[in-house]
Amino acid sequence: MGREWLQPAVEFWKLVLYNRVNDALYTFLVIAIYPGSFDPITKGHLDIIERGCRLFERVIVAVLRNPNKTPLFTVEERLDQIRLSTPHIPNLEVDSFDGLTVNYAQMRQAQVLLRGLRVLSDFEVELQMAHTNKTLSTQIETVFLATSNEYSFLSSSVVKEIARFGGSVDHLVPQHVARDIYQCYANNHPKSTPVRTNTAPPLKLSPVDQQA
Ligand code: PNS
Repeated sequence: MGREWLQPAVEFWKLVLYNRVNDALYTFLVIAIYPGSFDPITKGHLDIIERGCRLFERVIVAVLRNPNKTPLFTVEERLDQIRLSTPHIPNLEVDSFDGLTVNYAQMRQAQVLLRGLRVLSDFEVELQMAHTNKTLSTQIETVFLATSNEYSFLSSSVVKEIARFGGSVDHLVPQHVARDIYQCYANNHPKSTPVRTNTAPPLKLSPVDQQA
């Protein structure tokens, strides 16, 4: 006589076991969400992503679907831009979300929200956001990484402003992102490589200064 009648019970216990193993694994892994607008991703974001991926087992870059903003790129374009910029990072996932960041983090079983800090003014905003998130979920910690020095001035807004006025952004974003940006501001395509300021000539000292 067949044992087909046992099959549903076997499937049920398989599922229970699978979920248990999954939960156990997740308690050992630290998953970090790096939320943001990424309109578009810059080399500063990439710096945080690469360093975050060395610290955590898994990092999820999560692009906010924000109906209150009019972005330069659609969410899908931004997801593509991020994916194209990060093929070399195996423990990275790129996703989008809407609503509260902590809800998304809980849904993804993440324990950490990762954010970059550039300058003091960032700190005020970021600290307020971290405190707000803490009131929404005590389980999730915000971890700040100081942005590398060379990107401390860099933001998506700065990149868009430079491009809008016809400047080159080749040194600020990945190549394919720069191309996308130039396409958006097609009439303002930079004609040359980044403009560099010449070093100022040495000051001429007056005879009085020379004697001092
Ligand atoms: O790149 P950004 O624009 O500085 O990112 C801001 C972001 C998306 C991290 C923040 O606005 C956010 O978390 N929005 C989701 C709504 C939310 O969770 N609000 C409560 C925390 S202030």
